[in-house]
Amino acid sequence: MSGEKKYSVAVVGLGKRGMHHADAFANNGRFEIVGLCDIDQGRVDAAAKKFGGPKAGTDAKALLQGLKPDVFCFCTLPNLRLDMIRLGVESGAKLIAFEKPVALTTNEALEVMKVVRAGNVKTVVSHQHRYGEHYQKVKEIIASGAIGRVHTVYGTASGWMMHMLTHLIDYMRWFNDNAEAEWVVGQAAGKEKFADNHPSPDYVAGLIQFANGVRGIVECGDGAPDVPEVDYWWRKCRIGAQGTEGFAEVLTGGGWRAITKDSGGVISGPGCMDYAHDMPPYIQQIADWLDDPNKVHPCNGESAYKGFEIMMAICRSATQRGKIKLPLGPGEPELEALAKALPD
Ligand SMILES: NC(=O)c1ccc[n+]([C@@H]2O[C@H](COP(=O)([O-])OP(=O)(O)OC[C@H]3O[C@@H](n4cnc5c(N)ncnc54)[C@H](O)[C@@H]3O)[C@@H](O)[C@H]2O)c1
Repeated sequence: MSGEKKYSVAVVGLGKRGMHHADAFANNGRFEIVGLCDIDQGRVDAAAKKFGGPKAGTDAKALLQGLKPDVFCFCTLPNLRLDMIRLGVESGAKLIAFEKPVALTTNEALEVMKVVRAGNVKTVVSHQHRYGEHYQKVKEIIASGAIGRVHTVYGTASGWMMHMLTHLIDYMRWFNDNAEAEWVVGQAAGKEKFADNHPSPDYVAGLIQFANGVRGIVECGDGAPDVPEVDYWWRKCRIGAQGTEGFAEVLTGGGWRAITKDSGGVISGPGCMDYAHDMPPYIQQIADWLDDPNKVHPCNGESAYKGFEIMMAICRSATQRGKIKLPLGPGEPELEALAKALPD
């Protein structure tokens, strides 16, 4: 829209998700890409060509010298978070947009939050599946009271923990009005995926007690229930809520379904996770939040941290046994501890 401020953006990490972000920023008139970076020169050159030749390079620190973007966006693999957050804060950015998971350990996530809070920098973490029409529909049904009083929220995914679990928890928390979690019990199995670039136990399960009395149930990875209605493996996720008078759930790759007090049977509708559909509103709400501090982004980092904390509490419980109370303080790096505790 004419007359509105354009926010400058630097995007670091130009792989799959970095290019999704760069595309969505470039296609939104409220943003202008002023910097691009990847350690892979070929990716830098291709992106620079595509997005009109802004400042570009293979070193994020050098890129940010004198650039002062309004938005610092980085989409690197999970091993790179705190250093990028520090760079973003030092660059003077007003908002840092980055990919899930928030970090690889509670210690790192606590430091991430400390640095951004001290720098008064807004953060947004990409749990963007929620913009799918089927996710929105399930939220609408639950929020309308049509399934009665919600007592249980749940989420399962075939994909492994560091890829999928904070997505599940984020949408479950949303369906449960972002209630605080009080304690968590967890279990895990299998060590193969600790060597992956999204290091995880092969299978993880957790029970979550929310302060509003609602019980959360999550399962993720090799052993989680199949979602036979969905063909595409990564989208075999089922997230929903049960209430006193029905249920409503979303299948990431297969629409939504529900029974409500007035539906007289199962009702259902379409929807499939789609980056091209979900990224534009996610990016637009970054502009909205920068325009107006009251329009807090639904994927804000404080909320993402709460979801990450639940995931780490599940890991701690699988290692230490018993209930883990939230909030978490610093502790032994969860994945290392879990890898030691699980049998071969
Ligand atoms: N929100 C979602 O739906 C979703 C989907 C897929 C992946 N992800 C997340 O996105 C993140 C990135 O995943 P991806 O699939 O895009 O990975 P990718 O490997 O395709 O891209 C990562 C890029 O970062 C670059 N990079 C690495 N170190 C760098 C550095 N120091 N400086 C600059 N660039 C650097 C790599 O060269 C690569 O191009 C992961 O955390 C992943 O979990 C999210």
